[in-house]
Amino acid sequence: MPEPRLPIVVLTGAAGRLAQYVRPMLASACREVRLCDVRPVTPQAVNERAFQCALDDAGQLPALLTGADMVVHLAGYPREAAWDVILPANITSVANLWEAARAAGVQRILYASSNHAMGLYPRATTVGSDDLPRPDSRYGVSKVFMEAVAGLYAQKFGLKGFGMRIGHCSPEPLDARMLAHWISPRDLAQLVRVGMDADYDEAIVYGVSDNAASWWDNARAHALGYRPQDSADRYREALQHKVSNDPLAEHFQGGDFAAAEFNRDRSGFDVDR
Ligand SMILES: NC(=O)c1ccc[n+]([C@@H]2O[C@H](COP(=O)([O-])OP(=O)(O)OC[C@H]3O[C@@H](n4cnc5c(N)ncnc54)[C@H](O)[C@@H]3O)[C@@H](O)[C@H]2O)c1
Repeated sequence: MPEPRLPIVVLTGAAGRLAQYVRPMLASACREVRLCDVRPVTPQAVNERAFQCALDDAGQLPALLTGADMVVHLAGYPREAAWDVILPANITSVANLWEAARAAGVQRILYASSNHAMGLYPRATTVGSDDLPRPDSRYGVSKVFMEAVAGLYAQKFGLKGFGMRIGHCSPEPLDARMLAHWISPRDLAQLVRVGMDADYDEAIVYGVSDNAASWWDNARAHALGYRPQDSADRYREALQHKVSNDPLAEHFQGGDFAAAEFNRDRSGFDVDR
């Protein structure tokens, strides 16, 4: 039996923080990894190639995507900002990417959604993959937009979409909120691998390690084969008192993103919970 042909994968946001955690896995699992970023990025493996381009400029995308099998889309503005920042980085870029990927015959896009797509759910509520989005910011809205675009292109055009609602990815959790939503770098790399290999048309999963304090039902990820190796639980004693001094931020899953600019009457919210 001939060996299955390894895929050609485009990694967007390749100069960014999260990309460094998935590049070694991609380099070993792919024939070629195209490193796309608006900033310069240096190839480190023999099968990595740099493509410096801006996703909000549609004309730059055909050269990036021709012949590619998959995209791992991490590019974007990764926190709250005014619309004039969010629109090009997280809305126009997404529309351009999915449209160009469809035209190029790309088979699947794995993409970094965020906990902030669901950030206005209280921490006392467990949410799963099928619950309605409750974005907590303009940034969160841009992630919900991306999930909707992925759904359209999956259902209508057969371009598979794997949305990872990532909590916070760093070598170690840093505060009490991360006891719930932290994901380790190696669990993130494993989740991306699941998205490359698993059978689905459209999936939304949570990018979270095996944390007892998680607010999320991640059954969909488990059904597709995700088995997180790490847990924030061993940091509980060190971090459980490292909380925000804003009770509203403590009430909502989105933390400070949810509390920022919040100007509704707070009396209806049981913020001491
Ligand atoms: N860091 C986390 O824990 C976390 C949590 C949830 C979601 N996410 C999401 O994961 C993704 C990666 O996050 P990160 O922490 O690595 O962010 P980052 O800012 O370190 O990296 C993002 C990269 O995208 C590039 N970029 C931005 N706009 C671009 C454009 N128009 N065209 C091409 N490249 C562009 C930037 O130059 C940057 O290198 C983001 O989409 C973010 O929203 C991250």
